[in-house]
Amino acid sequence: MRTAVGIDDIAVYIPRLYLELADENRPEKPTEFSLARKSDSSKYLHGIGIAKMSIPDTYQDSAVLAANAIFELIERNNIHPASLARIDIATETGVDESKPVAAYVHGMLEQKYGKGSLKRTSGVEYKFACVSTADALESSLDWAWAGRSNGKYSIICATDIARYPLTSPGEPTQGAGAVALLVKEHPRLLTIDPVIGVHMEDEDDFWRPLFSTTAVVHGKHSERCYLRAMEGAVDDWAEQAVASGIVKAGPGESLVDHIGPMSFHVPYPKMAGEEPKADVYKKREEFEKAEADYMKLFMETHQFQTEYLDKVADGLVHARESGNSYSASEKSCLSMLLETKAMRGTDLGGKRGGSGNYGSGCKAKASSWIVQEEWTATAKKFGHAEKLRHRRPVSIAEYEILHEGNLFPDGRKFVSEPENEFVLVDVTSQGYRHYKFAD
Ligand code: HMG
Repeated sequence: MRTAVGIDDIAVYIPRLYLELADENRPEKPTEFSLARKSDSSKYLHGIGIAKMSIPDTYQDSAVLAANAIFELIERNNIHPASLARIDIATETGVDESKPVAAYVHGMLEQKYGKGSLKRTSGVEYKFACVSTADALESSLDWAWAGRSNGKYSIICATDIARYPLTSPGEPTQGAGAVALLVKEHPRLLTIDPVIGVHMEDEDDFWRPLFSTTAVVHGKHSERCYLRAMEGAVDDWAEQAVASGIVKAGPGESLVDHIGPMSFHVPYPKMAGEEPKADVYKKREEFEKAEADYMKLFMETHQFQTEYLDKVADGLVHARESGNSYSASEKSCLSMLLETKAMRGTDLGGKRGGSGNYGSGCKAKASSWIVQEEWTATAKKFGHAEKLRHRRPVSIAEYEILHEGNLFPDGRKFVSEPENEFVLVDVTSQGYRHYKFAD
C-alpha cells in the first residue's frame, strides 16, 4: 500500500502594503484608483470580485517573499534544517535567467541556520505560469510515494508578483505573495490522493517575454482557456478516480457531490465562481452554445449558491483582499479556506476535498485530498486573516512609483519599515542580488 503523504502545515507571506480598489462597506464610493482610471469601484468589487491588491515594497522580490514564508514554516514547526531533503520553488517571476530563486532562498535561510546547514537539501525552480505549484507538489509526492524520503521532509514554496502594465485591463487583477507547504508522510492537514488529472495545450492567452517586467494577456481568451483546461483536467481526474475506485458516484449523483471543500487558482474571485459550472455541465456543444446565459442563470440557482458558499467561497476571501499571486494563489486560498472553517468549528475531518490549478500557456491540474482528523489545531495557527489585517494602504502615487521601480521624490527608500524579515539589500551592476534578515 502507498504511504499516506500530503500537506502537514501551510505558511503564507503577504506583503504589508495594499492598494484599495473598492471600499467593501461602500462599494459605490469612488476610490483614488477608480478615479485615476476613470472607472467604477463597484466594477472591481462586484464585476471581478477584488477589493484590495497586495503591493510589494522596494526591498521585496519573489525570493524575499518565499524566504519569509519558508522561515515562518520552519520556525513554527521547529524543524531541524538537516531533516529537509528539498526546498523547491514554484514561480513565474524568478529573479535570474540561470540562478534559481531556490538558491537565493537557500542562502537566506543559511544566514539564520548557519553556513552549510542546508548543504544536504536540494532545491529547484519550477516554471509553468500559475500551475507550477501543482507540478512541484506532484514531484515531492512522487518522491515520497516512491519511498525515497527516508523520514525527511520537503518544502514547496510558491511565490509571485503579478504585474500588468499601468492602466491596462489586467491592472486590477495584480497582487503578490508566497505560500510555503510542509510535505511529509502522515501529515496533520491533508493526505493527497495518488490521482492527478491534467489538461495541456499550447495557447497564447498570457505570457511574459524575457524583456518585460509585465505580462501580456488576452484577457477574455484567457478566461476561456482557463475554463476549458480546468474542465479537461477534472475529466481526467474523474476517469482515474472512478477507475481506481477512489470515488464512486451512485445513480443520479455527480462526482462533485463527493467532494467537499474546494480550492482553485483564483486570478480574481469571479473566475472561481464560474468553475463548477463548466466542470459539471457535460454536454459540451450545448454548453458552448448557451454558455453566457447559462452561466448567469446557473449561478443564481439556490443549489449552486449553497454549494458555492459551503465549498469554495471562504477561500476566495484571500483573493478578494490580496489579488492574484499567480503560482501562490490556489494554496493561499486553500490556507484561507481551512483557517476560516477551523475558526468556525466546521467538521471537515475525513472529508475529501479538491484543488484546481491553472497556468496560462496553458495547463490545468485537478487533484483531491482527504482532510485529516487532527487538521483543526494546525489550521487555527496559520495566522492568515491576521496577516491580511496587519497591512497599510498605499496612495496611487506610491503604487505607481513602486510599480515602475522609480525613486520616491522625497528620498524615502521604502514605504513600510521591514519587520523581522528577509529583505533585498542591493543588486550589483552585474545583476547579483544580496539579501539579509532585517531585525
Ligand atoms: P475587463 O475588460 O475589465 O472586463 O477585463 P469587463 O469590462 O468585461 O468587466 C468584467 C466584469 O465586470 C463584467 O462581468 C462586467 O459586466 C462587470 P461579466 O460580464 O464577466 O459577468 N462590470 C461591472 N459589474 C458591476 N458594476 C459595474 C461594472 N462594470 C463592469 N459598474 C479581465 C477583465 C479579467 C479580463 C482583465 O482584468 C484581465 O485581462 N485580467 C488578467 C487576465 C486574467 O486574470 N485572466 C483570468 C484567466 S487566466 C489565469 O487565471 C492565469 C493567470 O493567473 C496567469 C498565470 O497563469 O500565470 C492570469
